[in-house]
Amino acid sequence: MKCKHYIVNKLHPLPPGYYPADLVKCSIPFDCAGFSQKKCICAIADHHLEKLYLAALEDGIRIYGISAFRSYQRQEEIYLDSIKTKGAEHTARYIAPPGYSEHQTGLAIDVSCEAVNFELTEEFADTQEGIWLAKYAHQFDFRLSYPKDNTEGYAYEPWHICYACKDARFYV
Ligand code: DAL
Ligand code: ZN
Repeated sequence: MKCKHYIVNKLHPLPPGYYPADLVKCSIPFDCAGFSQKKCICAIADHHLEKLYLAALEDGIRIYGISAFRSYQRQEEIYLDSIKTKGAEHTARYIAPPGYSEHQTGLAIDVSCEAVNFELTEEFADTQEGIWLAKYAHQFDFRLSYPKDNTEGYAYEPWHICYACKDARFYV
């Protein structure tokens, strides 16, 4: 069966109506209570994420989900709000324009930990959770999409990981 997952980059966005077909609620805990779309991820990514989470826990590391799936419309809200409150320059470095976010693929998730108050901050990289993630995420087929000096031109985001689905392709 043909893989139904997509990857994005600055040249290959997803259309506004694209929703992954296999979204499920993430198996890992989030920083907040209640259900929302941002707690969802594609089933294949969740399968590997749960393994990552449990392996971390065995090492005494507690990782929390902050934001996983975002629809085109949700990304647009976040993007426009960021332009208004933080300005165009900051937004260009931290927020993908609607259609261009890995969060819309359903394969990405932002994670954090208690030591940095569950914030998405560069300081996460220096926590034991951030160090563990940078070292071991690849063993669970996740990668840090935006390391320092990434070619996509985004800021360093030690909290953003994406499941490397080997058959995923650009949407054309
Ligand atoms: N923070 C990443 C670039 C996103 O908005 O998808
Ligand atoms: Zn992210």
